[in-house]
Amino acid sequence: MQPIQSPLNYTGGKYKLLKQILPLFPERINTFVDLFCGGASVGVNVECNHVVFNDISTPIIRLLQTFQRLKPTTIFNKIQHIIQTYQLSDSSRFGYETYGCDSYKGLGPYNQKPFLQLRNDFNHASKFDSDYYLMLYVLIVYAFNNQIRFNSSGAFNLPVGKRDFNHKMQAKLKSFVERLKTIDCTFSNRNFIEIPINHLTDNDFIYLDPPYLITCATYNENNAWNEQQEYQLYEFADTLNRLHIRFALSNVLKSKGKENQILQQWLNNRNYTCHHLKFGYANSNYQTKDKQSQTDEVLITNY
Ligand SMILES: C[S@@+](CC[C@H](N)C(=O)[O-])C[C@H]1O[C@@H](n2cnc3c(N)ncnc32)[C@H](O)[C@@H]1O
Repeated sequence: MQPIQSPLNYTGGKYKLLKQILPLFPERINTFVDLFCGGASVGVNVECNHVVFNDISTPIIRLLQTFQRLKPTTIFNKIQHIIQTYQLSDSSRFGYETYGCDSYKGLGPYNQKPFLQLRNDFNHASKFDSDYYLMLYVLIVYAFNNQIRFNSSGAFNLPVGKRDFNHKMQAKLKSFVERLKTIDCTFSNRNFIEIPINHLTDNDFIYLDPPYLITCATYNENNAWNEQQEYQLYEFADTLNRLHIRFALSNVLKSKGKENQILQQWLNNRNYTCHHLKFGYANSNYQTKDKQSQTDEVLITNY
């Protein structure tokens, strides 16, 4: 299977690490549970019979379901309709000059006003149908760094970004939507601790990619992931192990001078295998000379 990218630019998204992670996964998998699926970059690229995509974020799961349910042409037509209704830029058709912008500065100055109007309408919508979730997708595409962030009242609160629904974004969305239609998958919107596991067997496999306790991401804000959840996560992994369900857990042992001591202690007291990965993100070991800022990205497995 050719690896494909998620159309959602997720902080901590695992696309760049797939080359290292996938060979460490078991060869035969019946059900693959992507327990903290985020942009779904892992689940869509794993060879297995069935995938369960789970995430605690309701908008993310509903958006992924929308991509799975609607025909690709319908999705693209609806996106075009939103872009035209709000008069957002469409650089893939009209270039940058039409909007008085250049590639260096980006399309933000032109899109600022229509983006805020779209964001306002999205935040005040009363119908949560597929049009609503595609509005969310367009917001993400036009938002700062294509990020996803909601405030504590659930309102999307990022400012406008530099780019629009360009050829690259279109291609990513197209291949992702097509992949979702070819794989056998279901979606679940639960706290990881509430995911049913009694029906799983030693043919199944759970991938855990939680928020990292010692790094920052929009889904970590407001103490959304804290030490209590971190302990629950390790207890959950131990339970899987007792039930002979295979798991792999992504995390960082060290990052920017911080250490995850809870994780280190847990590892010291278990027989799990800890694979140290070579590099992942922009501030990777290859690029940082400063030892303090190095990241020790790991994959922990029980098989
Ligand atoms: C590191 S990201 C996952 C990235 C994903 N593997 C990818 O490649 O795009 C962590 C995800 O965990 C989700 N999350 C946070 N707390 C959770 C919880 N208690 N249960 C389930 N998911 C949770 C966040 O919404 C976020 O999408």
